[in-house]
Amino acid sequence: MNSNLYYGRDEQKQRTFADEMKDGPIAPSLVCPPMRLRLYRHRKILRALVLFAFAFVCLSVAGHVEPVLGNPDGVTSLFRPLSQPAQEIKEISLLVLAICGSIFAVVAGLLVYAIVRFRHRAGDELSEPPQVYGSNQIELAWTILPLLIVFVLILVTSRTIADIQNRKPPPTAVQATVIGHQWWWEIRYPELGIVTANELHVPASDGRESRPTFLKLQSADVAHSFWVPLLAGKTDLIPNRENLMWIEPTKPGTYPGNCAEYCGTQHARMLIRVVVHPPDEFERWAKEQQQSASVETNAPEGRKVFFANSCVNCHTIGGTSAQGKFGPDLTHLMSRATLAAGAATNTTDNLRLWVRDPQKIKVGCLMPNMQLTDEEVDQVVAYLQTLK
Ligand code: CUA
Repeated sequence: MNSNLYYGRDEQKQRTFADEMKDGPIAPSLVCPPMRLRLYRHRKILRALVLFAFAFVCLSVAGHVEPVLGNPDGVTSLFRPLSQPAQEIKEISLLVLAICGSIFAVVAGLLVYAIVRFRHRAGDELSEPPQVYGSNQIELAWTILPLLIVFVLILVTSRTIADIQNRKPPPTAVQATVIGHQWWWEIRYPELGIVTANELHVPASDGRESRPTFLKLQSADVAHSFWVPLLAGKTDLIPNRENLMWIEPTKPGTYPGNCAEYCGTQHARMLIRVVVHPPDEFERWAKEQQQSASVETNAPEGRKVFFANSCVNCHTIGGTSAQGKFGPDLTHLMSRATLAAGAATNTTDNLRLWVRDPQKIKVGCLMPNMQLTDEEVDQVVAYLQTLK
């Protein structure tokens, strides 16, 4: 290698602020030289502050979910959990945050003190500050203290992890299987004989009876992640593997969540809603979902169009010959609040838009445009709206 050439390039790269102060800047700057000198001296601190601010903004935004067309659920937050194990996770997080925050405050405080107290002063060049080498006491202190802190963190964290992982389903528990697809959620209740999509319905626990829901998480294609911030932490859905998790909400309501593992174009519109019912209302919901679609329909033209097209290859409608497994089960489509995994609210207009051209709502989704005429779209929508 030509070493001259190499050094030449390197020197060019290493033109520092000091050189610039000597030779003048290459490009004119908006900031006056003394200010630039100060900024240059503190560039590492500035970089750390910017990173810290960025992390804080990310953390505040995390967990916010909004469907694209319509907004039935509002914003969710991981800081106000309403279910186990999310509450337990929040408590441990706050403890860890408090310990780490105190360490940060002490270190940052000492750093600021040192920067201010020992800052550069006129005449400093003439004398050298006292040189200190080694101190057994200080070195022992900053080795043993962090070890103790880490040990405490390991103990409390593993206790929480064990608590969550070792939970055994009581006889009253609901069992459900959640299967991630690009880009929707298939939800099965094997014991209840229910199949639905994008809405997980569960009973609430109350003081008298514990009704947790135990979930088996699977994937039909790529890795996804089930995350409903108010109820529990994230758990991945991985192809050829079954992961387990459980939730035990105590307050009835609707809890929005989303896929938390990048899974392709429409990852951001792979939303899930967990609907928590009082126990008797949950039994009613289950009874309704167990019904097949009625053979009689007041939209016979729409049904004809639906069964004459390839809709039946992908969708199931219970009690009919439509037994496709590739797309969501439509037997009780109208009982669901959203379409396209939360991308749109389930209104007549959105349903029409969705049937006419799904790509308009969810670009890249695997449901094709069936090229139906306006009349056929209206007929199919009328038929779909009978699936209650
Ligand atoms: Cu599924 Cu991201």
